[in-house]
Amino acid sequence: MTAQLLTSISTEIDLAKLPQHVAVIMDGNGRWAKQRGLPRIEGHRRGAKTLKEMLRYCKDLGIKTLTAYAFSTENWSRPTGEVNFLMSLFEGLLRKELKEMEEEEVCINFIGDISPLPQSLQQEMRHSTERTKDNQGVFFNVAINYGSRNEMVKACSAIAQKVQRGELSADAIDENTIAQHLYTSASGDPDLLIRTSGEMRLSNFLLWQLAYTEIYVTDTLWPDFDTRQFDLALQSFQQRDRRFGRVK
Ligand code: IPE
Ligand code: IPE
Ligand code: MG
Repeated sequence: MTAQLLTSISTEIDLAKLPQHVAVIMDGNGRWAKQRGLPRIEGHRRGAKTLKEMLRYCKDLGIKTLTAYAFSTENWSRPTGEVNFLMSLFEGLLRKELKEMEEEEVCINFIGDISPLPQSLQQEMRHSTERTKDNQGVFFNVAINYGSRNEMVKACSAIAQKVQRGELSADAIDENTIAQHLYTSASGDPDLLIRTSGEMRLSNFLLWQLAYTEIYVTDTLWPDFDTRQFDLALQSFQQRDRRFGRVK
C-alpha cells in the first residue's frame, strides 16, 4: 500500500511520489506589500516567514532538498535602500535562525558569488554552513547573488584553466564536467520548480539544472504561499507525466 498523508486541504499527497528536490522563485513580495499600502520591505519580511514555513514543511514531508532564489545578480539594480535592507535581513535571519536550523537538522548551503556581499553577511553564511554541514534532515540551498549565466561563465573559466594546466583534456569534457563545476554540484537537479506571483519566466535561475524540471506557476504572491498552496503544487507535480523525451 502506498503511504499517504492527509494534508491541510485534505488533498491526498502520495508520499511515495514526492519530488526529491524542490526549487522556488520567491516572487511577489513587493506587490504583496503594495496591495496593503506597506513599504516593499514589509513584503520581504513576510516572505522570509513563508520560506521558514516551507522549509519546515519540506522536512516534515520528507522532501530532501529545497533551493530558494533569494537575490539575483540582477537585483543589485534595485534602489540602494531595498538592497541594503535585504542584505541585513539575510544576515539577521541567519543569526536568529541558526540554533533552530541546527535543532531541525537543516544543512544550509549557499549558491552564488558571495564575494560582493557585505563582509559581515559572508561571515554569517560561512558560519551557518560550517555549523550545519553534518546535518541530514533537509538540504537547504539559498541562492544569494546568484545568476545562472554568471555561474556558467565561472564554470567554463574553471574548466578552461584545468585544460590549460594539462589537468583535463578538452575531449574529456562532457555534461558531467559542466555539472560538477556549477554551484549545485552536490545537490542534483530540481524535480519541481515553483514560481509565485504569476510570472512566466526563469529570471536567470538554474538554466542548466532546470532542463527537465516540472514547472508550476501560481498567481499567489510569495508571502501568501502557505502549506495549502504548496499542497496544490505537489498535487500538480504528482499528476505530471515525466517523459524525458521518451515515448510510453
Ligand atoms: C521577490 O519579490 C524578492 C526578491 C527578488 C528579493 P519582489 O521584490 O521581486 O516582489 P515584486 O515582484 O516586486 O512584487
Ligand atoms: C527573481 O525575481 C529573483 C528572486 C526571486 C530573487 P525578480 O523579481 O528579480 O525577477 P524579474 O525582475 O521579475 O524577472
Ligand atoms: Mg519580482
